[in-house]
Amino acid sequence: MPLLDTYNRVHNNLRISVTDRCNLRCTYCMPEEVVFMERAELLTFEEIARFVEIVAPLGIDKIRLTGGEPLLRRHLPRLVELIVAIPGIRDVGLTTNGILLAEQAQALFDAGLRRINVSLDTLNHERFREITRREGLDRVIVGILAAKKAGFAPVKINAVSIRGVTEHEVVPLANFAREHGLEMRFIEYMPIGADHWERGKVYFAHEILEKIESEVCPLVPVDDYDPRAPAMEFRYTDGQGRIGIIASVSRPFCLKCNRVRLTADGKVRNCLFALDEADVKPLLRGGASAEKIAEVVRANIHEKWEGHEINTARFIKPLRTMHAIGG
Ligand code: 5AD
Ligand code: SF4
Repeated sequence: MPLLDTYNRVHNNLRISVTDRCNLRCTYCMPEEVVFMERAELLTFEEIARFVEIVAPLGIDKIRLTGGEPLLRRHLPRLVELIVAIPGIRDVGLTTNGILLAEQAQALFDAGLRRINVSLDTLNHERFREITRREGLDRVIVGILAAKKAGFAPVKINAVSIRGVTEHEVVPLANFAREHGLEMRFIEYMPIGADHWERGKVYFAHEILEKIESEVCPLVPVDDYDPRAPAMEFRYTDGQGRIGIIASVSRPFCLKCNRVRLTADGKVRNCLFALDEADVKPLLRGGASAEKIAEVVRANIHEKWEGHEINTARFIKPLRTMHAIGG
């Protein structure tokens, strides 16, 4: 039996956060001051791999490693090796802020990782400092180019789409991506950080598209365009690359959601915005059987709600901010 919820959504996609720590402090994601999880609270690589071994037979075949910043977790390539060796896992990706990527790209590739997303919202140094509250733009760019050189395909660039920021960045980012054979993806800003979110702060998908079409190049939907998939994907009509837009706010895709999350401290979350979680760490540490753990995962997914209600007055922001959930 696949991992089904009561809306008949099949879950095959697991996002694993390996740490809540980060070397940046993006305002839309986390507060400046944070009390991080104790090291002993983090699942070990062996515990994470056992969890994946238990859920792979339930239909999980796609994994993404996230953080916080996953490259801050020491020896991450070892975890990649453990996960790619698990039968049934056919796709392992990583989302990183790129700061430590130049040093680690080759080792990650050699461990079997093939897909990488680098978060980058701006190519302007001052704006980078404002958003991330740290330095590092040049390192991120060097990291992106190193990932490309190591053989990662695709390398995608994720930018959070924020009014006041993104309208200045759409064109430079799109051109940068086209120049280097990267896929640019814009993600509408969501209420999951420590800062004050309001709808007016989202620079919407249709605005991004209009700007790109008028100032970069006209777009057409890709041939395998799936109107209900999370990313709306387009290609440039001059043949030079493609672009994805994730319209989480203006066009929620909850009814197609296939994702479940494991936090760094071993909690299963059936939605980014979930208010409840299932704690599998005591089970993994207490010698619980695979059947018992599978049962807890099934039950958690069975409880999944229809979707986030960002666009309604009923929306309740979860206590965890993004860095402690995993993007
Ligand atoms: N809205 C949209 N995306 C976000 N991310 C972090 N916080 C938010 C938010 N509030 C993204 C990061 C990164 C991924 C881990 O999640 O930019 O690409
Ligand atoms: Fe760190 Fe990523 Fe959050 Fe920025 S968005 S603070 S890089 S975890």
